[in-house]
Amino acid sequence: MDKIKLGIIGIGNMGSVHAVSLIEGNIPELELTAVADIRESRRRWAKEQLPNNVQIFSDGDSLMEDGCCDAVLIAVPHYDHPRFVINAFAHGLHAMCEKPAGVYTLQVRKMNEAAAKTDRVFGMMFNQRTNPVYRKIYEMVHSQKYGALKRVNWIITDWYRTQAYYNSGGWRATWAGEGGGVLINQCPHNLDLLQWICGMPAKVHAFCHIGKWHDIEVEDDVTAYMEFPNGATGVFVTTTGDAPGTNRLEITLEKGKIVCENNVLRFYELDCSEREYCFTTPEGFRPPAGHWTEIVTEGENLQHTGVLRAFAANILRGEPLVANGEEGINGLALSNAMYLSGWLGKTVELPIDENLFLEKLNELRANSKMKEVQEITFNTEGTYGSGGKP
Ligand SMILES: NC(=O)c1ccc[n+]([C@@H]2O[C@H](COP(=O)([O-])OP(=O)(O)OC[C@H]3O[C@@H](n4cnc5c(N)ncnc54)[C@H](O)[C@@H]3O)[C@@H](O)[C@H]2O)c1
Repeated sequence: MDKIKLGIIGIGNMGSVHAVSLIEGNIPELELTAVADIRESRRRWAKEQLPNNVQIFSDGDSLMEDGCCDAVLIAVPHYDHPRFVINAFAHGLHAMCEKPAGVYTLQVRKMNEAAAKTDRVFGMMFNQRTNPVYRKIYEMVHSQKYGALKRVNWIITDWYRTQAYYNSGGWRATWAGEGGGVLINQCPHNLDLLQWICGMPAKVHAFCHIGKWHDIEVEDDVTAYMEFPNGATGVFVTTTGDAPGTNRLEITLEKGKIVCENNVLRFYELDCSEREYCFTTPEGFRPPAGHWTEIVTEGENLQHTGVLRAFAANILRGEPLVANGEEGINGLALSNAMYLSGWLGKTVELPIDENLFLEKLNELRANSKMKEVQEITFNTEGTYGSGGKP
């Protein structure tokens, strides 16, 4: 077999971008053989835009039952990700899951249990992990060359969205349909990168402001304080309401400081470890010496294409995935912790009480108002990576 037959479940904003990319031949080892969508308007789009040999189904389950695919890409609203991934494995299919892995960790734990029992490939669409600047930061932090983590601050406020965006789908920005706001929709990439690079915090205290900048029932403005097991601290700030927004990630290590702003990576390397210097120098005010360098990274920023190429290469030849599906639970555990902290108004320890989280989420879902809207599928080209790059 030199091509994997792929079906896409959900051809809204994201699924249709994947479909077009596949028919343009950007992922040579994946062949689009089927798509599914419950909306008639999207199936009409598929009939008009996709080649005749791509089968069109009116729901994801019948696509999987048909046997026309070796693998599926799940691009439906988040609550349904675990259900479809579990069903894919039950049909012997490989699965690529759009972010986030799900809405609450209890459901994602079931998905990971199913993944552990199958030999099928399971990948997560964490496309920002293909960005060479984040890969470089990961390598610098994990090399231990610059000592332990002291602090991480990420201001990631360039996820600007308008009211028209929130009005474009009935499920969007509702507890019942989406399960949250900026943390669950825009930030899964950042929260995944944060835990991938720095590890999981031990404690979180977050302030999640509901509908601060938009007419929505979920949060669109968050500030979270984190404490890591080694005592390092961090602050994560995000919103969909700032214009212009900021994307600035600062990581302070014992022997230097990494600053990544708008995809430009700089490093201040200290001549010695600050921890050692602090207790050995006779100086009172002068910080340890060091110098700034701009780090030029190598490699293409392939984003979704890179994730899908690696997915096919993993199925065909066992080459590494960009992100293993089972890792999806980590970033979600972080956002679940931020929500729970906000709801309880206090610091929470990780792992959080997952049953309590679901109980609180279900209370919000019970009072949630799914909107009656005119569904719109936007042209989202170039909007998927905050920081101005696709
Ligand atoms: N990786 C990224 O950069 C990225 C970017 C945008 C969205 N996403 C993710 O993709 C997912 C979809 O987001 P979107 O913006 O495309 O939403 P969307 O509402 O535009 O599209 C979702 C589609 O799924 C269809 N659908 C729902 N239930 C279905 C079912 N049972 N069977 C078949 N089709 C079904 C809907 O009709 C809709 O067309 C979300 O989980 C989102 O987080 C990822």
